[in-house]
Amino acid sequence: MKGLILSGGKGTRLRPFTYTGAKQLVPVANKPVLFYAIEDLVEADIRDIAIVISPETGEQVKQAVGDGARFGARVEYIVQDAPRGIAHGIKIAQPFIGADKFVLFLGDNFIRDGIVPQVDAFRNGTMNAQIILYKLDDPSSMGVAVLDGDGRVTRLVEKPQQFISPYAVIGIYMFDAHVFEAVNAIKPSARGELEITDTIQYLIDRDLNVRAHLLSGWWIDTGKMSDILEANRLVLDILQPRIEGQVDTASRIEGRVVIEKEAHIVNSTIRGPAIIGERTRVENAFVGPYTSIYHDCLIRQCEIEHSVVLEHSHIENLSRRLADSLVGRHADIARAGGHTQTLKMMIGDYSQVGI
Ligand code: DAU
Repeated sequence: MKGLILSGGKGTRLRPFTYTGAKQLVPVANKPVLFYAIEDLVEADIRDIAIVISPETGEQVKQAVGDGARFGARVEYIVQDAPRGIAHGIKIAQPFIGADKFVLFLGDNFIRDGIVPQVDAFRNGTMNAQIILYKLDDPSSMGVAVLDGDGRVTRLVEKPQQFISPYAVIGIYMFDAHVFEAVNAIKPSARGELEITDTIQYLIDRDLNVRAHLLSGWWIDTGKMSDILEANRLVLDILQPRIEGQVDTASRIEGRVVIEKEAHIVNSTIRGPAIIGERTRVENAFVGPYTSIYHDCLIRQCEIEHSVVLEHSHIENLSRRLADSLVGRHADIARAGGHTQTLKMMIGDYSQVGI
């Protein structure tokens, strides 16, 4: 089997982070979300992988992933000229996929327990397509599946306005070559995209063997800030503690903590679960539970918890504890100089600040 990961798109819901970076590279416990997808495929013994990238953020994705060797995979790239839909991503990957069965993995989807049983069932079975469902109270922001009494999928609707079923279709799908007939036949939807839901509906309408697997573990679409914090919590909870950086004798490390190479912890407390990235310096500070500080950051004279801080950011001299926050790349947060209580900011477009 082959793997196809979609890592293009616009990432509008994760602005401002996605103005300068691919949303699939936002880190969860200091590892880009996209890497978890590659690892899930490799764990299921799928090592021939193509990643669909956009002209805007494709180079960053290529730089981060490379040729796939360090994942034990062979990775190639397919440029999608514009976000014309998930099914369009399948269409342009046909020369790569050929006649093989494949897994389509949306690069911002995050699943805690991997995909090995589902892939094994598909690889060895007679299904033409397999989708994975996740029960939600309100699945209206997703593709939704309606099942009949025997648990067979009868209908799929993209982001339905009315409640039709609690079963959201998550962004991990398995197909055989019949899917190319579908993606070449369907027409763009009202939002101008070739929809994955229409693709699967096409297969159902032709009586092909489309099965659904109901997921019991955790799944998250990391498209929003709250989802990134949640995915971060999930991974930090199962992190193996390790200390590879330097911790001075005045510092305290409590609980499940990772200190990566060349990080420096000076006169500080790190209370896990937490991870401190490579070359990051934490000085006279408190880093509390569920915090991931990425590489090359400076955290000095401040307190921070339940937050994700991206690379090369500086947080210093804060009189209040920073919490529940996602801090972008190369950001600077510090108490303003002078004697007044003035707040001094340079905030990017679509930023959110809670004071
Ligand atoms: O997360 C699961 C949901 O993903 C499904 O329930 C929906 O049926 C499916 O349409 C999709 O909905 P989203 O609105 O979340 O899709 P989004 O536009 O965020 O794209 C998902 C991923 O695919 C994201 O990593 C970007 C990438 N993508 C998307 C499009 C439309 C591409 O690479 N190219 C594209 O043309």
